[in-house]
Amino acid sequence: MNVLFVASEIAPWVKTGGLGDVAAALPETLRRAGLDVRVLIPAYPALQTAFPDAPLLAMLPATEGQLSGATLRAAHTAQGMPLYLLECDARFDRPGNPYLGPDAHAWPDNALRFGLLSRVAALLAGTTSPLAWRPDILHCNDWQTALAPAYLHYLPHGTGKTAASVMTIHNLAFQGLFSHALLRPLGLPERAWAIDGVEYHGHLSFLKAGLQFADTITTVSPTYAQEIQTQAGGMGMDGLLRHRAKHLHGILNGIDRAQWNPAADPFLAKPYDARRLAAKAANSVALRAELGLADAPGMPLLGIVSRFTEQKGLDLVAGIAAELAALPVQLAVLGSGERSLEQAFRAIAAQWPQQFAAHIGFDEGLAHRIEAGADLFLMPSRFEPCGLNQMYSLRYGTPPIVHTTGGLADTVIDASDTAHGNGFVFSEATPAALLAAIRRAVALWHDKPRWRKLQRRGMQADFGWGPAAQRYIDLYQTLCKP
Ligand code: ADP
Ligand code: GLC
Repeated sequence: MNVLFVASEIAPWVKTGGLGDVAAALPETLRRAGLDVRVLIPAYPALQTAFPDAPLLAMLPATEGQLSGATLRAAHTAQGMPLYLLECDARFDRPGNPYLGPDAHAWPDNALRFGLLSRVAALLAGTTSPLAWRPDILHCNDWQTALAPAYLHYLPHGTGKTAASVMTIHNLAFQGLFSHALLRPLGLPERAWAIDGVEYHGHLSFLKAGLQFADTITTVSPTYAQEIQTQAGGMGMDGLLRHRAKHLHGILNGIDRAQWNPAADPFLAKPYDARRLAAKAANSVALRAELGLADAPGMPLLGIVSRFTEQKGLDLVAGIAAELAALPVQLAVLGSGERSLEQAFRAIAAQWPQQFAAHIGFDEGLAHRIEAGADLFLMPSRFEPCGLNQMYSLRYGTPPIVHTTGGLADTVIDASDTAHGNGFVFSEATPAALLAAIRRAVALWHDKPRWRKLQRRGMQADFGWGPAAQRYIDLYQTLCKP
């Protein structure tokens, strides 16, 4: 079976969050299971640098509207996964974040940038593709690729069989909303401006187009698949998602157990595993030193690695800083995003420099060292489609404290369940509920035998990609039936 997987980021080259990790690991797992998977990805500068000699595959002339001409080049990951690099210097040759300019505002031509990505994905999925290789499945991810099923619906794609489309929602909060004025520049016909087309409350929505026209929709955890069909969690799309409920599947993400393995992690001061848990302490000592925190092994060290957005509930943490200082605990925060949160964590770190450290930025190595060096990991997300960090922290023997939502609810079991518990769960997204969960966790941390048991249970769980990949394969197969 041939699968074209299309995404707007891919680790390790371009990553702003979990999508980059998924785009690297899921296609690779599917490929190892015997599928012929290829990943279509914009040729951002990081990819051009990584693959300077990527041979030309096809020249794609400008087509409809204001979609630019482009070039496809072929590359392979170190493991051998074929990559199709979509080169269009006018659209993708920009440094830094793939979505935001240097002033942290979205690039003004994002609709045309990701319209082009979607348009090329649709082209490769149809019988007018310039490539000999044809996918059976076109697997789209998030709004940046979600116009592809609409292009397949509205534009001619030859007479033969077009690939079936799968639309995965990694985060319903990002909907790709643009003005009606972009309909024609994106090469869509006027008739697409309809309630059963790409129109969404007076805007053109990329994500709605994908949800409307994809053959199947998936999202990244079973609980999130339920939540997005409710008014409270549907972010305006719940009606459409309920309408398509028969074609909506929640498949829990996995984690890359090779990249995130405390026994062989090149970023760590000292490797460890469930049998050599004492060695984890060396990573805590090193992390405290790296971040300038007091060498205070008597205080539990909490960790956060996160995008700073409303979604992640980090304002709840900032709101209980004084209580955390008094508890006492230490806190290591890595992240960037909303300025108000960056400022809040900087201020907290300045006020309690021995206890709190804030590293504002994106740092893959430090993310690994926090997972390893912290005693507890905080994820008070208001909503969380899946979440990868809580699974990384379980594997690193760093029990997570999570708000029970989305994928967090599907992966973390409260320690009060003494047979199955692996972390700490609270059900109201309030500072008081978070603080109560942290207090419970700290109390258990002082009870070393029980703590070790909790750590080991998390470390032994298998959150690998195998089961998810099998579910995608089953889904692809149902779509391929004649
Ligand atoms: P989301 O995709 O919503 O950001 P996930 O938990 O699924 O949340 O994935 C986040 C990924 O991004 C993880 O691999 C995490 O380690 C990484 N990450 C987030 N912020 C940073 C940062 N500031 N530095 C390094 N890695 C980060
Ligand atoms: C999104 C979600 C996150 C999920 C990730 C990968 O960014 O916010 O919960 O883990 O995508 O699917």
